Amino acid sequence: MPETVLVTGGAGFIGSHTCVELLDHGYEVVVVDNHANSSPHVLDRIAKTASRPLTAAHLVDVRDREALGHVFAAHRIDSVIHFAARKAVGESVERPVEYYDTNVGGTCALLSAMHEHGVHRLVFSSSCSVYGDARTLPLTEHSPVAPTNPYARTKLMCERVLEDICELLPQMRVLALRYFNPVGAHPSGLLGEDPCGVPDNLMPYVAQVAVGRRERLSVFGDDYPTPDGTGVRDYIHVMDVAEGHRVAVGHLDDSPGLRVFNLGTGAGTSVLELIAAFTEASGRPVPHQVVDRRPGDVAALVADASAVAEAWGWTTTRDLAAMCADAWRFQTLNPDGYPR
Ligand code: NAD
Ligand code: WQD
Repeated sequence: MPETVLVTGGAGFIGSHTCVELLDHGYEVVVVDNHANSSPHVLDRIAKTASRPLTAAHLVDVRDREALGHVFAAHRIDSVIHFAARKAVGESVERPVEYYDTNVGGTCALLSAMHEHGVHRLVFSSSCSVYGDARTLPLTEHSPVAPTNPYARTKLMCERVLEDICELLPQMRVLALRYFNPVGAHPSGLLGEDPCGVPDNLMPYVAQVAVGRRERLSVFGDDYPTPDGTGVRDYIHVMDVAEGHRVAVGHLDDSPGLRVFNLGTGAGTSVLELIAAFTEASGRPVPHQVVDRRPGDVAALVADASAVAEAWGWTTTRDLAAMCADAWRFQTLNPDGYPR
């Protein structure tokens, strides 16, 4: 019998790529999403991209424990990947309660439904933002955590909840993956990142400038203590993030309890370096101007990616050129994003 994975937030940016990766590797996949931040058309794109269809997709809010219970009752779920969350840092400062409600409340509702239906294997979406303004790079999983905004605190709080439930229930097997900066798209150009409104994140903004949808990029500060003064991040191809989740599901039974891993490449890229790589990949100029620093931004965040390599014998394989080329393909094939 193929293993069945429940993917919450399966229509989102990382979730959709992960569904395809799981389907292409023989897993049955059940999606739960309320489309708070995704188009239902993504489900059609998953169907077009993957070698096999999704088992089911349920329009369910992860905070709705009863509705989740029906999903668990309808399918024989072996493991869960929990992506569903709100992720905009700025919005989390404006609406903290909504962030705690969805991210922490949703995780608690999911854990209750899982336990009630005898499912104890979980891969959880955490974030490099739990490290806050890091003093020493690269960041290992043992680096101090010091989240600087409500969004990041919800992720750390979820990790604490998972730690506590793993203490209580010896049958729990949980992997919390702290992603660095996922970017790029499926190489088919059918799946990618499609933010609502003005993009908060660098790569989708750059792509929209290159395609002519926005006039110019604001580079948030060039006076950071980095080689060219602009912010440095560890960009990771979303296909590698998806592959990492598929590999993680295969390692859930390695040991009981909660294990935390970084998901990054270990390579830092500045804003100016990313603009140059995107210009090269797209053949289009990316007009930009330096403006003030964005409040709350940190100079540099780069992962020590060695722990997953040692634990799973797996590393990322896609470089910055591939991230830009694939993001550009998605942007040109879908200049206005998915149909909404
Ligand atoms: P996304 O917004 O594209 O995907 C999240 C999905 O969850 C969306 O389809 C949305 O509709 C759904 N969702 C939101 N609230 C829901 C609810 N209450 N019930 C059911 N579904 C709901 O985001 P993403 O970039 O794919 O991120 C996935 C996960 O990874 C999130 O937990 C995010 O915090 C985490 N993460 C993302 C990044 C990043 O830069 N993209 C980095 C680190 C961690
Ligand atoms: C990258 C760099 C900006 C936009 C965010 C979340 C974090 C995690 C990953 C979820 C920075 C600069 C950006 C622009 C710019 N997500 N920039 N002009 O801030 O590292 O992390 O995504 O867990 O929680 O905060 O990513 O893409 O916004 O910024 O100059 O228009 O690009 O200053 O140096 P960030 P980002």
